[in-house]
This record gives sequence, C-alpha cells and structure tokens, in this order.
Amino acid sequence: MSLRVGFIKGNQIMSAAINESLSAKVLTNSIEFLSPYFLGAYGENNDVLEKLLVEFVRDHIYWRRNFHPEDQPPITPQMINDNSYSDAVAKIRAELHSLTAKLKRSVPFYNPRYIGHMSSDLMMPALLAQLITNFYNPNNITGESGPVTLNMELEVGIQFAKMFGFNTDESKGVCAWGHLTSGGTNANYESLWNFRAAKFYPLAVANAVKELDLDLDLEIENSDFKNPKLYTLWELVNFSIERVLEFKNLVLTCTGSIYGKAKQSQLLKTIEDNRIETLGPAQFSAQNWQLKQAVVLVPATAHYSWEKAMRVLGFGSASLIKVPLTDTMRMNELELSRIVNNLQSQNIPILAVIGVLGTTEFGTIDPINEIVKLRDQKSKQGLNFYIHIDAAWGGYLTSLFRKEDGRFEELESIKKELQYFPSKRVYQSFKALSETDSITIDPHKQGYLPFGTGGFIAKNRDIVQLLSTDADYVFSKSDKPDFQQIGQYILEGSKPGANAAAAYVAHSILPLNSKNFGRVIRQTVRSAEYFFDKLKVLKQELSEHIHLTVPFEPDSNLVTIAVNPKGNSSIATMNQFSEEIYGFLTHDANIPVQSKEFLGSKTRLSIAKLSKEEQTSLFKKLHLFDASMTPNKDDKIMILRHTLMNPWLSSENDGKNYLDKYCDYLKMILLETVKKYLN
Ligand SMILES: Cc1ncc(COP(=O)(O)O)c(C=O)c1O
Repeated sequence: MSLRVGFIKGNQIMSAAINESLSAKVLTNSIEFLSPYFLGAYGENNDVLEKLLVEFVRDHIYWRRNFHPEDQPPITPQMINDNSYSDAVAKIRAELHSLTAKLKRSVPFYNPRYIGHMSSDLMMPALLAQLITNFYNPNNITGESGPVTLNMELEVGIQFAKMFGFNTDESKGVCAWGHLTSGGTNANYESLWNFRAAKFYPLAVANAVKELDLDLDLEIENSDFKNPKLYTLWELVNFSIERVLEFKNLVLTCTGSIYGKAKQSQLLKTIEDNRIETLGPAQFSAQNWQLKQAVVLVPATAHYSWEKAMRVLGFGSASLIKVPLTDTMRMNELELSRIVNNLQSQNIPILAVIGVLGTTEFGTIDPINEIVKLRDQKSKQGLNFYIHIDAAWGGYLTSLFRKEDGRFEELESIKKELQYFPSKRVYQSFKALSETDSITIDPHKQGYLPFGTGGFIAKNRDIVQLLSTDADYVFSKSDKPDFQQIGQYILEGSKPGANAAAAYVAHSILPLNSKNFGRVIRQTVRSAEYFFDKLKVLKQELSEHIHLTVPFEPDSNLVTIAVNPKGNSSIATMNQFSEEIYGFLTHDANIPVQSKEFLGSKTRLSIAKLSKEEQTSLFKKLHLFDASMTPNKDDKIMILRHTLMNPWLSSENDGKNYLDKYCDYLKMILLETVKKYLN
C-alpha cells in the first residue's frame, strides 16, 4: 500500500475520503461468489452441510457393509437391545454434551467480529471432505495405508509447486514435489533438514573417497567436476542442491565403471558413515575440525519456529543470525549483503537464507527477489546458500499472481481489481518465488482448512535421495525416489489422509489461480485496504485526544495500529493504555464470549529490532519522545494486530459493514479509556 495513516495532513484528508469510497465500492463485489463455500457466520449453509454430511456418512456405512456382506455383523441386535448397551449410549451422549458445552467457550474464529489471529471461517467443502474422509481413516505414511489420499496429497503438492512457479514437468529438467505437514513449524524444520543433507553431502563424499583411496578423475566424464580429493573444504560446502545431486551421481557412476559394483556399494555405505546425519553434529565437527559452524540467516521478524528448528537439528539457536529490518519491517537487503560478505570473508558456511512472505506479526513481505539476486551473485564467487521462503501466512496470496493458464499475472491486471496491492516491490517478491529452493505454506491459515495442515514444497524433488531412511518393515528398497513410500523422505510418520482430501477437494473446487482461489484472497485484501482507508479517517477523528498510527505499511491483509494518548511521551504509559484497549478485544474463557463486541490480537514490537533512524521515525509518528530522550533497548511497544481474512467482513447490517462497526467500536473504547490519561 502506498499511503500511510501517519501521513495524512491537510488536503490529503480529501484523498483519504476518495480512497475510502473507492475501496468501499470494490469491497462488496465478491461476497455472493463466496457464499456457497463457507458455513457462514450464522450457519447459513447449515442445510447444505447437514444434507451432504448425512449423505456421505451413509455412503460410508454402505461401503462398510459391502466389503463382505455375507459375514454376520459382530454387533448383534441382541447386544443392541441389552440394557448395558443403552446405558453406554446414554453415557456417550452425556460426555459429548459435556464436551460441546465446554467447547462453547472456544474462540469464535468463524465470525467477522473475530479479527485477531490467523483463523477464520472454514471452507465448507474442505471441512466436509475432512470429516467424511476421517471415517475411512487413511494413513498417508505410505501408499499402502493411504492408497487414495496419498495421491491426493502429492497432487496438492504439485498444485502448490505450480502456483509458486516451480517446474513440475519431468521432461523439462529439475522437477518439484511437495507434501502436507502438520503445520508451518514442521515445514520449516523440514527445509533445514533437507538443506543440511545437501550442504554436507559433498564433504562426506570426499571423505569417503579418501577413506577408500579411490582415484576418480571426474573431468574425463565430460563434467566440470574435479577429482573429489582435490576440492577444498570451502568448495565442498558451497555446492548448489543441483550440483550436490549431480556430484553424487557422477562419483557413484564413475566408481562403478572404474572399480565395479561392489566398490560402488562400499562407497555408498562409506559416504553414509561420513554424513552428519550418521555421525551427529559433535562427531562430524570433530572429524571436519577445520570447518566452521554453519549459520542460518533469518529476518528479525522471523517466526519462533526457526529458533526451534535450529535447536531440533542440533545447530543451536546461537547459529541463527537475525538480519536487521528496514523501517517497514522487512528484511534489510543491505544488511543481508553486509552480513553475507562478512561471513564469506571468515569462511563461515551459510546453510540458508530464509525470507518471509507474510510476517506473523505485521504481514510484511521480505525482498525475495533481492535474496535471489544476492545468491546468484555470490554463487559466482564460490559461495552458495540455499533459500527457503516461509510463506506459512502469505503462501495462498500467490494465487492472485497465477493465471488460469499457468502464466504469471501482469502487475497491472492484479492492480486493476485492488486499491494498493501489490506494490512493485511486493510483485517482484512473488515473482522470484520460483527461483528459491523450497517454500512453506499453511493451508490451515489462508487456505481456510481446519488446523493440522501445513505444506512443504521443494523445487528439486531429487533431494529426497539424500533423505531416505531405511525402514524395511514399511518400505521397499529402491534406488529411485518412490513417493508412495513418502514416510522415508519426510519428518512425520503416520499422518492424516483426511487433511489431504480436504486440501484436494478445496483446490479442485477453487484452483490456485487468480480466477478461482484468488477471488477469496482478493476479498480479504480488499477488506484490509478498506480498513486501512477507514483508519485514515479514524486518525483524524481522534486527533484531538489520541495519536493513532499504522506503524508499518501493510503488504497484504494484516493491519496493525499503535495508539498513544495525546501529550504522553512515555512508552510505559502508552503500553498501559494499549493494554487496556486490548482488554476489550481479548477472549476470556471465563466470561461469556457474547459479551465481546469484537476480538482482536496484539503484538509487542521490540525497539531493539529497529535501527536508530527507524526508532526515531516511529517515535515521531506516535509523538513518544522529545528529541533529547533515548529509549531503552529492552523497550517494547504494544501494537494492536488485525488479521483480515474473514470472508464476511464486508457484509452489512444497518448500512454498516463489520469494519465500519469495528472502527466505531474502537473509537468509542479509545475515547472512553483515554479520559483518565488526559490531563
Ligand atoms: C510466518 C510463519 N511461519 C511459521 C508459522 C508456524 O506455523 P504453524 O503454527 O502452522 O506451525 C507461522 C504461524 O503463525 C507463521 O506466521
């Protein structure tokens, strides 16, 4: 978005009013289109849901009966007529009653009055598909236990890969694959797990070749690889993923042709013995003591799953480097480049640079194209890092950028239907996704699926050759990746086929392009744009008593607000005021949820994440400090956070939509609360 609330002065008020009417006009366009796909704030689609659910539960029962209809049912009519049976059924009913009574204290994510975290109404066809498939209970750990739903999962992986622009055609070279995970956290773990396998593989190869004293002159095979023994340590940990796989295959082929099959098998085993995955980090480091500890670079806004990932994989969170941000809460590409240069000069290997497409707290989008550019530049200098994009939140926004025929949308055609989104910078970031190595996406966020469904997509599916773990009782041995044995290549074991069915059905009804799924996403971006414009007006209306600002220009459909009583210059007081406002907007399981008008969320912005200039600019907007004051580096500013993904935000009651009403409510609680803060 190009304008900021904080910017409105004088004649800009007029342009705000114009903008408001513009975004209001487009806001109401899509609601009819969306109406069959969600249960609705009042359960308006109850009849359809109930009818389809009963129909397909019955259909499942017939399926059970048709397996061996000649068998006598183990539960007999006599059993059913027994008193103990009816007592048990009564108990089941009572317990379910007790459960649903408790569940009434849940958070009403489905309602447009909920604009807090990344949850909303669920996509009805997906919910039905998941519920119905659960009766069949497929396990997608292998094709054997999930014969139908594993193929659906792999197809969903391909759909995501296509949306991101990865190649999925075997005949055209490097080919992508993807699968579902339990969520974004696990997909993030998986990216580092994949990268670690690739990064240190050539080193294990070189060590194994030395151990077996093989003389492999790879140049003679018409390649640009040299004898593995001749590589420096730095060279060995700076291969791209594609080159790691080429190197592996070339070394094995060459060994086979010079020394025979037995030696080739021995080499393969010796490589395995030398890998970090086999030795563990401590022994691997001891064996390769000249190699410095590899690091991972994330923006300072990164989700906390990255710290966990570093711990889980044994790299240690101390090796996670947080790249400073720009004043718009995006990774600062100059800082990134400075850090990379610095690491390069010290021969510190970089395992990965992580870009975030939709930060958890601000919805901002990192400069993915700049990360790709830096990778390309550096690889020419012999430094290679892998790129993973954490698009847990923003992944589905990519559907706005993909045409039905698979081509990338032109900027102008996306902009035609929206007020501000996407800026040129954001557009370039989405365009560069196809040049990254892997991507996390969360169907249980903007895919509107029930919780428990994330996704991991890798550009080069052959990387799974480096991941396979033998488990003879489940898997058959084969040299080529066999995705029917998916459990060998992923972090999870048993996994629900029902979630795959849900994603598959959702994407079959609304394919991942701008004309289909994109319409759902477009509606949420419009809501955010409308809200953004409304805030400009609210800012003016409150200006006598409160400084309201949108601290960071939203990139998508997540909008934050900071509020400060007029005349206050202390962070502590501002936070106390904001905390009181948040008190009105937070869910409390101990009081009836109906007592809440709206539900929002909050976040704390750490001052330490901002540069000196960025701090000054933010403080200025909030009128927090006079020029002579210096903030404490541990200070955190409390911010109200709004996730605008509910499809019904534009629906109107008494001529006002939910965002109008929220702004009225916010104004009321702000003015009421500020009274005690004003002198
Ligand atoms: C950017 C980002 N990455 C990762 C995650 C973790 O996803 P999950 O909660 O599905 O594990 C989140 C969750 O909010 C997120 O916003």
